Amino acid sequence: MPESLTQFEGRKRDHIALALKNETEAAGLAGFSRLALVHEALPDLNFSEIQLNVKSLGHDVATPFIVSSMTAGHVASVDLNARLAKACAARGWWMGVGSQRRELNDHEARGEWQKVRAAAQNVNLMGNIGIAQLIVSELDQVRALVDALEARAMIVHLNALQECFQPEGTPDFKGGLQKISALVKALGETPVIVKETGCGLSQSTLIRLTEAGVAAIDVSGLGGTHWGRIEGQRAEGVDEVRSRAAETFADWGVSTVDALLAAQEAQVASEIWGSGGVRTGLDAAKALALGARRVGFAKPILQAALDSDEALVLRMETIEFELKTALFCTGCKSIDDLRSRKVWQWQKAQTHVEK
Ligand SMILES: Cc1cc2nc3c(=O)[nH]c(=O)nc-3n(C[C@H](O)[C@H](O)[C@H](O)COP(=O)(O)O)c2cc1C
Repeated sequence: MPESLTQFEGRKRDHIALALKNETEAAGLAGFSRLALVHEALPDLNFSEIQLNVKSLGHDVATPFIVSSMTAGHVASVDLNARLAKACAARGWWMGVGSQRRELNDHEARGEWQKVRAAAQNVNLMGNIGIAQLIVSELDQVRALVDALEARAMIVHLNALQECFQPEGTPDFKGGLQKISALVKALGETPVIVKETGCGLSQSTLIRLTEAGVAAIDVSGLGGTHWGRIEGQRAEGVDEVRSRAAETFADWGVSTVDALLAAQEAQVASEIWGSGGVRTGLDAAKALALGARRVGFAKPILQAALDSDEALVLRMETIEFELKTALFCTGCKSIDDLRSRKVWQWQKAQTHVEK
């Protein structure tokens, strides 16, 4: 039986409430604390010269930052997305919208995006659809999602672990790679991006996705929001098997740092983006130093956006300032500099001195 709107909204509300809890975050597992950027005491530049722009998907974009795809999915979703879109437009961040699954068959749902567009005409939006839905959809339907959003790109999300633990999940991924490849051809000029949702990507999957012709891959690794944990909590008291199994898989995934290193080692041709447990501009600098071209934040931005416009802008400004500080203190004038010079090293073991 297809899910009703009430069920859909209830699920999305659960997701937001659970995503904000500390226990559903795989904190500390992203790997950023394992490496350090090397301090340059005498940078040959002025702070004011530092530029955050990068070339990506054929555009010169003002900052490498993106708001990672998040479904708001409840009555306040238009307001929340409009708040995010306005802040992104003002600061030059791109924004991934949450899953457009409901819009595949409910054309009225597309109207929500017109309201978001009206709030921020010049925001760069990226569409979003899950692999399980892509597999069973006509490519024309996906094209319609891109058009409705006036999207710069279409993101396909991979969420194998979530689909296993979600009581109403659809863990049917057979034929996924071929469908992604067909989507790349069908969308032509509109870039296709594939992302994980917090469990990361192995080197072989990165290579297969590159061969399928995707323009960018967002590793979205282990270390932040963990959908096994979120769905495990939703399953509590409803489905004891899933709830228990989710505990077993609480730390499942490839860390964001390991996935970025795997991509670097394989020299994959697609752009690599970093997300999953990125919490500060310094984490972002480390992801960029490991070769990421763009960096995404989900939970930290959601938290700030739920507070207020001011909290959101403060969070974004802080992240930008932290990245600029990391650039200055490594002697890098630009993101290209940071990505091309090896300014990181593995963190030395901390020596404990007895007093
Ligand atoms: C409330 C919420 C809803 C999300 N919905 C989607 C979605 O619809 N599509 C998607 O690709 N990822 C979705 N994600 C996953 C994020 O894009 C991201 O990959 C993941 O949360 C890891 O980033 P983080 O550690 O910064 O939260 C969602 C995340 C959150 C917190």
